[in-house]
Amino acid sequence: MKFFEQEYFSGEELSDVLVEGDCIQIMDRLPDEIFDMVFIDPPYYLQLPTSRKLRRWGVKTEVNGVDEEWDKFKSFEEYDSFVVKVLERVQRLMKPDATLWVIGTYHNIHRWGKIMQDMGFWILNDVIWLKTNPMPNWLGVRFTNATETLIWAVKDKGSKKYTFNKEYAKQFGIGKIYENVWRIPICSGEERLRDEKGNKVHPTQKPVELLKRVILTSTREGDLILDPMAGVGTTGFVAKMLRRRFFMIEKERIYVEWTKARLKKFSKTAYSLKNDV
Ligand SMILES: C[S@@+](CC[C@H](N)C(=O)[O-])C[C@H]1O[C@@H](n2cnc3c(N)ncnc32)[C@H](O)[C@@H]1O
Repeated sequence: MKFFEQEYFSGEELSDVLVEGDCIQIMDRLPDEIFDMVFIDPPYYLQLPTSRKLRRWGVKTEVNGVDEEWDKFKSFEEYDSFVVKVLERVQRLMKPDATLWVIGTYHNIHRWGKIMQDMGFWILNDVIWLKTNPMPNWLGVRFTNATETLIWAVKDKGSKKYTFNKEYAKQFGIGKIYENVWRIPICSGEERLRDEKGNKVHPTQKPVELLKRVILTSTREGDLILDPMAGVGTTGFVAKMLRRRFFMIEKERIYVEWTKARLKKFSKTAYSLKNDV
């Protein structure tokens, strides 16, 4: 029997699983209330012009934005409808006191926040990721965008017993009362995955430090974490480092392959790859 044809899944069967496929279809095959935490790093819908390439001052080299097919939608309407579909499924899959993190930029995060509130999610915080080495605004026509916003929420207002590890919040937040600003560089150097030509494997690979903070503040050892749009698998990689379990979905085969290679570092961690759907 194929994996997703089973009627019932034990927590163990869903531990440390990487699925290649569309997250909407895959999430529909999972049982209710199984995840302790969900991390979503969705397409930004940057809407970059395809005809005009952005160039750096002086040197005139091209700036690589996010130009991938997976970031393209026809309209805000289509994007919002995707957001609703994802959130409906995530809400069903979260345990009653699970939490949800969504990360984005000004392009998309406000849409996610509004839709989450409309659907009954209860926002606990937003956390500002302040990039210590942001990409400058090359044209000099607006502020350099040095932040991303993370929304942290429970599935409804009644969820009170969610995990919040204060001791880690104290370590990571700014100031005496651990304010909600995290200063972290963007992913670079050894950590950044590059192909044999030296090109970035994924345009928006998130820093390990960011995921470390998310996971340490909002989960316990052994918890099961869902990442439905996993890219090159940063969430699962850090989950294993911190003795948590992951269930990741990614639709682009190339990223799935890189995630597999990344997870090999944990040679003792057996994980299953499901691409039979
Ligand atoms: C912003 S990136 C995530 C990056 C990831 N956090 C990392 O550190 O590598 C969003 C990812 O969502 C994937 N994606 C977009 N739509 C999807 C869908 N419907 N199902 C599964 N994956 C999807 C894209 O292929 C892309 O890799």
